[in-house]
Amino acid sequence: MSETIAEIIRGRRTIHDFLPDRMPPRELILEALELAAWAPNHRLTEPWRYYLLGPEMKEKVCRLNADLIRAARGDQAAEMKLQRWLAIPGWLVQTCAVSASPIRADEDFAACCCAAQNLMLYLWSRGIGCKWTTGELSRHAGLYELLQIDRQQEKITGIFWYGYPQAVPTTLRRPLVEKLTELP
Ligand SMILES: Cc1cc2nc3c(=O)[nH]c(=O)nc-3n(C[C@H](O)[C@H](O)[C@H](O)COP(=O)(O)O)c2cc1C
Repeated sequence: MSETIAEIIRGRRTIHDFLPDRMPPRELILEALELAAWAPNHRLTEPWRYYLLGPEMKEKVCRLNADLIRAARGDQAAEMKLQRWLAIPGWLVQTCAVSASPIRADEDFAACCCAAQNLMLYLWSRGIGCKWTTGELSRHAGLYELLQIDRQQEKITGIFWYGYPQAVPTTLRRPLVEKLTELP
């Protein structure tokens, strides 16, 4: 890793447009998922689960989303979205194990978010961009059914699109002084 950790954290951006037809190697994604597990995690519950979608499942998911859009906004909007989504190279779904305890559920979700950031930062350091999405589809029963995820056992925490960035957006953060209270 030639960049410092500060450069990687500051430089990572959510990527909206990926180079088409350039799929990052599966081994690199598995390496990133193994690293993701080194997230802080109260009681070491390791609550994250991952579903790495191949081309067939990716197409089914894109078509399910297009069906939802068709019902709400019509054929043209559905077709546009379908083509846009089919061009996204990498598809990964993260879930969090469901817990009956609200405290544990919060802690497990926090750990999944830490794992997600590990994943995205490592991939970024290897030239791969991600977009973490939590749109309507990620809560839709149809997606659970397609991926055969039991809602009683796991909750989808994000759909992660990944690939080589076509463009890297710029963004800003508020100055720290607006967020920090220092106490004596
Ligand atoms: C839990 C979570 C859900 C997100 N869901 C979406 C989403 O549905 N659509 C989207 O465009 N971006 C989504 N994002 C990405 C944010 O919009 C993005 O992180 C934010 O604009 C800051 O940009 P940056 O990641 O480049 O710093 C999500 C991020 C997080 C952490």
